Amino acid sequence: MASTVVVGSKEKLVFAVNGERVELSGVDPSTTLLEFLRLQTPYKGAKLACGEGGCGACVVLISKYDRQRKQVEDFAVSSCLTLLYSLDGCSITTTEGLGNCKDGFHSIHERFAGFHASQCGYCTPGMCMSLFSSLVNADKSSRPDPAPGFSKLTVSEAESAIAGNLCRCTGYRPIVDVCKSFAQDVDMEDLGLNSFWRKGEGADVKKLPMYIPNEICTFPDFLRCYSSGPPLVNTSTFENKISRKDQWFTPSSMVELTNIMESMTEKMELVAGNTSSGVFKRMRYFHHYIDLTHIPELLRIRRDDYGIEFGATVTISKVIDTLLGEEMVLGSERGLVFRKIANHLNKVASKYVRNTASLGGNLIMAQRKQFPSDIATVLLGVGSCIKLQTSTGQLTLSLEEFLEMPPCSCNMILVSVHIPICTQEKSINNGIIHRRNAKEPKLIFETYRAAPRPHGNAIAYLNAAFLVEVSNDKLSGDVVPERLRLVFGAYGTKHAVRATKVEEFLAGRILTPPALLEAIQLLQKIVVPEAGTPFPAYRSSLAASFLFAFLHPLVKGLEGPKWNIGSNRCCDGTNTDAPFCDFGTKCSNYSRSNNSQPELSMNLDNGRTSSTKSPYEHIERVNVMSGRQVMDIHNDCYAIGEPTKKVGAELQASGEAVYVDDIPSPKDCLYGAFVYSTKPLAHVTKIELSSSSASQGFVTLVSVKDIPKGGQNVGSQTLFGSEPLFADDITEFVGQPLGLVIAETQKNACIAAENASVYYDTANLEPPILTIEDAVLRSSFFHAPPFFVPQQIGCFSRGMSEADHTIHSAEVNIGSQYYFYMETQTALAIPDEDNCVVVYSSTQVPETCQVVVAKCLGIPEHNVRVISRRVGGGFGGKAFRSIPVATACALAAHRLRRPVRMYLDRKTDMTTVMGRHPMKVKYSVGFKEDGAITALHADILIDAGVSADVSPVIPLAVVEAMKKYNWQSLSFDFKICKTNSLSKSAMRGPGDVQGSFIAETVIEHVASELRMETHHVRKENLHTFASLKMFYGNSCGATPDYTLPVVLDKLIESSCFYSRAESVRQFNSCNRWRKRGLSILPITYGVMLRPTPGKVSILNDGSVVVEVGGIELGQGLWTKVKQMTAFALGNLLNDISKELLDRIRVIQADTLSLVQGGYTAGSTTSDSSCEAVRLACNVLVERLTPIMVKLQEGVEIVSWDALILQAHRQMVNLSASTYWVPHPASLKYLNYGAAASEVEVDLLTGSTTILRTDITYDCGLSLNPAVDLGQIEGAFVQGIGFFMMEKHVTDSDGLVLSNGTWTYKIPTVDTVPRQFNVEILSSGHHKNRVLSSKASGEPPLLLAASVHCAAREAIKAARSDMRTYSNSETPSVFFRMDTPATMDYIKELCGLDNVERYLQSVIANS
Ligand SMILES: Cc1cc2nc3c(=O)[nH]c(=O)nc-3n(C[C@H](O)[C@H](O)[C@H](O)COP(=O)(O)OP(=O)(O)OC[C@H]3O[C@@H](n4cnc5c(N)ncnc54)[C@H](O)[C@@H]3O)c2cc1C
Ligand code: FES
Ligand code: FES
Repeated sequence: MASTVVVGSKEKLVFAVNGERVELSGVDPSTTLLEFLRLQTPYKGAKLACGEGGCGACVVLISKYDRQRKQVEDFAVSSCLTLLYSLDGCSITTTEGLGNCKDGFHSIHERFAGFHASQCGYCTPGMCMSLFSSLVNADKSSRPDPAPGFSKLTVSEAESAIAGNLCRCTGYRPIVDVCKSFAQDVDMEDLGLNSFWRKGEGADVKKLPMYIPNEICTFPDFLRCYSSGPPLVNTSTFENKISRKDQWFTPSSMVELTNIMESMTEKMELVAGNTSSGVFKRMRYFHHYIDLTHIPELLRIRRDDYGIEFGATVTISKVIDTLLGEEMVLGSERGLVFRKIANHLNKVASKYVRNTASLGGNLIMAQRKQFPSDIATVLLGVGSCIKLQTSTGQLTLSLEEFLEMPPCSCNMILVSVHIPICTQEKSINNGIIHRRNAKEPKLIFETYRAAPRPHGNAIAYLNAAFLVEVSNDKLSGDVVPERLRLVFGAYGTKHAVRATKVEEFLAGRILTPPALLEAIQLLQKIVVPEAGTPFPAYRSSLAASFLFAFLHPLVKGLEGPKWNIGSNRCCDGTNTDAPFCDFGTKCSNYSRSNNSQPELSMNLDNGRTSSTKSPYEHIERVNVMSGRQVMDIHNDCYAIGEPTKKVGAELQASGEAVYVDDIPSPKDCLYGAFVYSTKPLAHVTKIELSSSSASQGFVTLVSVKDIPKGGQNVGSQTLFGSEPLFADDITEFVGQPLGLVIAETQKNACIAAENASVYYDTANLEPPILTIEDAVLRSSFFHAPPFFVPQQIGCFSRGMSEADHTIHSAEVNIGSQYYFYMETQTALAIPDEDNCVVVYSSTQVPETCQVVVAKCLGIPEHNVRVISRRVGGGFGGKAFRSIPVATACALAAHRLRRPVRMYLDRKTDMTTVMGRHPMKVKYSVGFKEDGAITALHADILIDAGVSADVSPVIPLAVVEAMKKYNWQSLSFDFKICKTNSLSKSAMRGPGDVQGSFIAETVIEHVASELRMETHHVRKENLHTFASLKMFYGNSCGATPDYTLPVVLDKLIESSCFYSRAESVRQFNSCNRWRKRGLSILPITYGVMLRPTPGKVSILNDGSVVVEVGGIELGQGLWTKVKQMTAFALGNLLNDISKELLDRIRVIQADTLSLVQGGYTAGSTTSDSSCEAVRLACNVLVERLTPIMVKLQEGVEIVSWDALILQAHRQMVNLSASTYWVPHPASLKYLNYGAAASEVEVDLLTGSTTILRTDITYDCGLSLNPAVDLGQIEGAFVQGIGFFMMEKHVTDSDGLVLSNGTWTYKIPTVDTVPRQFNVEILSSGHHKNRVLSSKASGEPPLLLAASVHCAAREAIKAARSDMRTYSNSETPSVFFRMDTPATMDYIKELCGLDNVERYLQSVIANS
């Protein structure tokens, strides 16, 4: 039914998109801006990658006219959360609005391309818009004008511009360089590799694409008149009972609002920013929406003597700006509380969410739905009040009362929030503000949060706010807390709470270690997470840490700075280093200002003075990421070896690059969504769709019954077998597709699928196999064919007998990792004449996809055309896991004779697609006194999930990577366990990552047992060439090819490893609550070249079109292929390669145009595709050479155009294809690299900061060093995710619980190395490799184990400290450290009770 929009007397919505007027009526009011942009405009730049406000792929700029201030406000928003109807009168700018390929790109687009900051490109438009928004706002400020080409942005603001945006490819360093390149205070020499200048040529802003501030008009004039017009609502509209379907109300006063609400007969939704839809993932419709953002009372910001009253719909960003502005007025001392609140709020979500998220919306969520709010905690900490409108009138309540009352009903309106000023002259108690005189005690205020990402976009495990009045005891002069507000929240509690018992206990007490210990013990009984909350012990221990961090400087008898109220200084003379400040002192220099400068390396901070620093200081340090790139650029084979920018990077930035979901829907297109199983093993007796689905465009359910005669129920296949598309009678794992709901829109299909009821029966079925242990018990295994079984080396028992020491059956567990490609699985299938189907798929394996679709439909393969142009991130996940999506669409299209497309929502993607293989490992090792290992045996249990996929090759890969050290003898026993869980598949460095990690664990263990430096044990067990040959056979090539020793030596030197190791030791000896670790490790990674086709065609005008089997996933395959084509055709004419480069286009993969495309996997597809293309070019060169020679007889210089013209006239075949098959002797080669990482671990929270990483990686003669650098950095950061952050959690049935951006945390810009240096080593020529190049896609991921090992070093130091003060339960020297080492886990290893133990030791020794 058509919807009606009641916008006063106006029946339509008016806004602008990229300067063009849009008028709409009759749109479903639940439509988001992103849906509108993607479905109803040509602008596809904004991408849907999460739909939760958690990734930034959908960011656009909104510009709004502020009627009161008569000025335009510009701000970034997540368009996936913004409702279209809230944008009446607004202007929307997408990345396309900045520039495009026809009219010229914007300097942001060009700098993204030139700094090599876009790989798959799926995140790039969102990144561009986040940056653009920051530039627009900085340039509006009153700061002095910058030099031409720069903005008014500062370097640190530039980095935080993209703080909440996720990128899975680049590792962020080049993106940060793009952002910094606009900053007025940037050191140009500090910018990384780019295509604007070469190293040594002089970095200069004039060489960059010119940035012109205010060049883009974000708010067209016609909207100015519209937006400054009369109020939008005519109250008379609401006199009658409202029951029309689908309405959007924009009341402009509280009276109108009340009228509308009273008239409402159906359920309605009040909306401010609508960001809660990202939190609670609304999957149901509301028909009536009431927009609260036009009511002056709710928008008002009012200052009074006692503080500031914020209307409930004031956005969090505006609250932050206002508080910071007020701090400027009050001065840094009196305004400190405001600044601290603002700084805490700055870590709520990300900027593009805070720009629309309201203060009131947050508090309502906290009050009504137990949302783990930061705002509730912080505002409760300062004793805020709220105003609530109920059916009986307005109430003023303290925030505490508000939180404690029963959940607000939907007709209660939060009107405003009052934040008290809390200065020296005024204090608050129970929401009542008291005037104080200057002689009274002083206030101390601090807030805390511990979250997986330090700068936001992650919900806290625990947050806290402490406000305390302190005075000096009249007798002793000691500091005594008087009134306290100790608030804790987000730990799995109904709402933020005051720890009143602790407050009472501490009030009036001289703080001594026993008193603090008792307070902490009391607190542990209060901060108790509700049953079912993850990490309960960790959260409780954080509470102890925070209280300790806060009170520590007040406690008599504890080391560290002391607080002396009388002098306003710490007793040791410092007054700036405490985690708190009163209003009589200068604020602390580690306040949460984004402008504070980095403490980059240990060379700068050897810790000598650190003992006086606060235990909590480092959390506040913000520094800007930087990096150094070192490489040789060899151009003797132009265009090979050139660091040319990535093909299509500008298009990716400007949003014009077309991904599968950007292809416009063909006429009559339908949409699919999987209904998947929630039982691990059961008969599926019935699937029932909810009755409401019928009215919402539901078409049908496609299931196994729809597979045509002659077809098979197949959804994917590998060398090792196939797997079904849909469960047939019995479902075998949670997440298994049971059917495909088909509906008129994607949204309706998803809602219908989500609401489907599936009936199961487990009668007569064995219990499912849900764990590796179950599989072993029931002998449920997959078996690898002999060719894939790794070979043992040497004799283990002899090796053990030769050992001086042995370790037996030690264990380590390795977790899984989800791909988190930014573009989820997607396909579009279009039925064609004569039983054919064209499938557009985001796939790395189009050929296999074609085979499977043909099998499923029972048609010949030549009836199936699979087209893949570009993939928005693959990492292995778009290989065999992409096929079920493409096949399901093809089946539905085949059956319904209509186009069918599907774009998995993030939750479905995460629930139905799994990545890396988790493993349980037991190892026994023998070693000599000097650290030389004599024997290693490993029993490795691999969870393969329900189908074989590529699991049978995983053992081989594990062993390949383990062999990087000379174990003398190596044996193993693998069990590839078949379980009733999602099938694991290949993910970047499959098996090798785990193997390399197992090797490092063994080395660490041996070093610990011998109490030796780990680095020494690593060196001791490095291969000689002879032992390498014994372990790897011919794939290690000749002696000079073994470059690992050189790589390591270079890295030791360039990273100043030894001097920094000494600095780390010094630092650790001076710091109790922060420990640093430094680790250096090597990798060896075998890759295999595979047969690949290539086709090169020269068209009439001399332009060249190239087809390859490989798919462009962001890894730069097209770029390298283009370079190779230019180089190879350049053999015809001297100096033509440069000119040719711009005339070559690599086009999409099409399985009917180029057959035998194979897989894009294993790091070698770019090289193989290049080689195939080189051979094809050689054929053309051979055909063209006689014509060339002939032409040269007539003229001195023959142009390419003349040559091609003549070739056409002579009817030369100008298309050549080849199928390159590598020579068996050169199928395999080894890659080498090494990394040194230094981390700092916070022993109070378990968080790890990666201070610096140095990588040296041998790329052979790189085909394109810029592309390879991107691969190295990107892979390393993905590895950080695997080793340190990404915890893949399922319930006991195997249902994935980490199923979105809220629960699965990939690295962000604030979690990657602060200093990230990469050296690409050119190790020279090698005949067995494609133009001597080496692979870079996967191996560097393994190097991220250096971060894990460095964290272990830091923890080791912590545990060693603990041994000195803790007599009981002395931690052993070695400790098991699994992956991922998330902050809760690290804290556990450091001791969840480390604070208590420390206090106990102080008490015992006093
Ligand atoms: C990705 C992401 C990360 C986040 N991270 C954090 C975080 O780290 N810490 C944190 O504290 N918060 C976090 N949030 C929550 C965020 O602060 C809230 O979503 C936001 O403040 C809600 O404001 P809104 O205007 O969008 O509310 P809406 O979504 O518009 O409304 C929220 C709810 O409140 C009701 N409502 C809104 N205003 C009123 C009113 N005035 N009176 C009565 N009812 C009302 C609505 O009906 C709705 O039920 C995050 C959110 C997202 C999307
Ligand atoms: S898609 Fe909107 S933030 Fe991820
Ligand atoms: S380039 Fe950022 S996600 Fe691929």
